[in-house]
Amino acid sequence: MERRLTPVHRGGQGSSIMTTKTPAFKTLEWTGRSLRLLDQTLLPGRTRYITIRNEEELWDAIKRLVVRGAPAIGVAAGWGVYLGTRRRKPSSLAELKAVAGEVADYLATSRPTAVNLFWALEECRRAINGLGESESVRVGLQCLHDTALFIQRDDERRCAAIARHGAPLPKGAKGVLTHCSAGAPATAGVGTAVGVILRAASTRRLTVYVDETRPLLQGARLTAWELKNAGVDYRLITDSMAASAMQRGLVQAIVTGADRIAANGDSANKIGTMPLAICAKHFGIPFHIAAPISTIDFSLKSGEAIPIEERADEEVTGFGGTSTAPKGTRTFNPAFDVVSAKLISAIITEKGVVRAPYRKNLSALRPKTGGGNK
Ligand code: MRU
Repeated sequence: MERRLTPVHRGGQGSSIMTTKTPAFKTLEWTGRSLRLLDQTLLPGRTRYITIRNEEELWDAIKRLVVRGAPAIGVAAGWGVYLGTRRRKPSSLAELKAVAGEVADYLATSRPTAVNLFWALEECRRAINGLGESESVRVGLQCLHDTALFIQRDDERRCAAIARHGAPLPKGAKGVLTHCSAGAPATAGVGTAVGVILRAASTRRLTVYVDETRPLLQGARLTAWELKNAGVDYRLITDSMAASAMQRGLVQAIVTGADRIAANGDSANKIGTMPLAICAKHFGIPFHIAAPISTIDFSLKSGEAIPIEERADEEVTGFGGTSTAPKGTRTFNPAFDVVSAKLISAIITEKGVVRAPYRKNLSALRPKTGGGNK
């Protein structure tokens, strides 16, 4: 189904200060029966929603990046466990628990890097396994439904808090650079890094330098689209132009999201983030990560242990169905890289801004109870 979006602001590039509002589009929406996902593979050209009715459709949507961005993948996975379990019509609570576990195991194989996926699946497992044996199947399904809804609402709240805490950070900056899409399309709320930037732009004039983000152009297709709709001034650059933008003094702060943060602060994010952090250090520009605590994997001592997804050759040898390299070309196509904690000026979370020493300061945020990021 095609639906036209109503931009929050139509100011376009160069418009002045504006206020941050709830995004005019919904990245994911529970309809009461199924999950509706904004198909991010088609943006910005086409605005189409697809309906997800079961875990297989969701697995495919996660793999193909119809839904992408660490927090959004986690939220979608919560609904996937509910949909997949409901579909199998378990006849007892014991069977329901087993089925929910199988569906969660299956969804866990869709993408390996964003820990929010595993965190959300663990939340579902924990909720359902916490039910007493005497409960009915109806109560079990309601529990999975409510858990998915909670994960979604919780992400909205976390994003809002991250934006609030982070907005003062690009202090005095006129130019801020971001990579990939860490905005509303990547979450159930206002986004992480882009949420921070939009909030900062609501109080002062900012120009956002948007890395196009090869190979799949999440920056050009999604972040530029989001900033344009919000009326924020932005310049699209290819990834290889970021160093020159820094050298010319156009950028005073960098804010990106993360897919998984190790206990020592090392942070995995979209491929191309690490060179930004290295350049930022060289030019003396603060480099910030904005992410919810559900993105921190306290079980991993350092970034070396973060599993990095490798994707298909075709993503590098062409774009949009057009080949740009000789037939048969083989590639190296890791979807993420890891920024050493040493290069990170601050990690902006929903509980506040964390600085080095990260191992100590992040551990203070570790949830007392909770699932996958314990
Ligand atoms: O491959 P993608 O598009 O899922 O990669 C997404 C990113 O790298 C984002 O920067 C990250 O998930 C943070 S989203 C708030």
